[in-house]
Amino acid sequence: MDEPLIILNFKTYREVEGARAMELARICERVASETGITIAVCPPAIELSRIASEVEIPVLSQHADISRSDPRTGSVTIPGIKATGAVGTLINHSERRLNLADIEDLVRGCREAGLVSIVCTNNVSTSLAAALTGPDYIAMEPPELIGGDISVTSADPGIVKGTVVGISRVSPEVKVLTGAGVKTGEDVRVALELGTVGVLLASGVVKASDPGKALISLCSGISK
Ligand code: G3P
Repeated sequence: MDEPLIILNFKTYREVEGARAMELARICERVASETGITIAVCPPAIELSRIASEVEIPVLSQHADISRSDPRTGSVTIPGIKATGAVGTLINHSERRLNLADIEDLVRGCREAGLVSIVCTNNVSTSLAAALTGPDYIAMEPPELIGGDISVTSADPGIVKGTVVGISRVSPEVKVLTGAGVKTGEDVRVALELGTVGVLLASGVVKASDPGKALISLCSGISK
């Protein structure tokens, strides 16, 4: 995925149930094309295959349970994600925590499958621990700011900078994203200034009255 980038996690908000997930993915595709900025989407699991096969922007899974195709009812597998045409997956989102051994196994599974791995974390120390598993990205999001109106970039820029600096020391090849409360172009601009390669967000676009306008505002924080 080209950077800087904006990753939109649709979560399971009412606003993206059924056909509305595809509508939002199409809006993201249009804004990405108009602005030239990378916008990746994480649709609900039940819409992943359809969206990954129909839009031209990067599509990621919101979660993965297991790295192999073992018979497990209701689980999301790495080979299953790969088969949809998605390019990668979030791992260990704040709303779907995993243990470190599982995170490592999923990161390895992504690497073997040629999928992008984005491990979500909640602070500097968990970010450093997760970075040692070798993902492509760490997305650091303080849980108390998720879904709120204050961006991590203004509430606690130090935690973002600390994550960027710490990871550059322990695993310099791992890139850093941040999120939680991100809503404006200024939030994105500051995230990049702090050394991240982009943002992971949800409510600022999914729950906006005009998601396209919200996305364009976010993109304004990235100078091309
Ligand atoms: O996955 C992104 C998320 O946890 C941040 O959510 O609503 O604060 O942008 P939000």
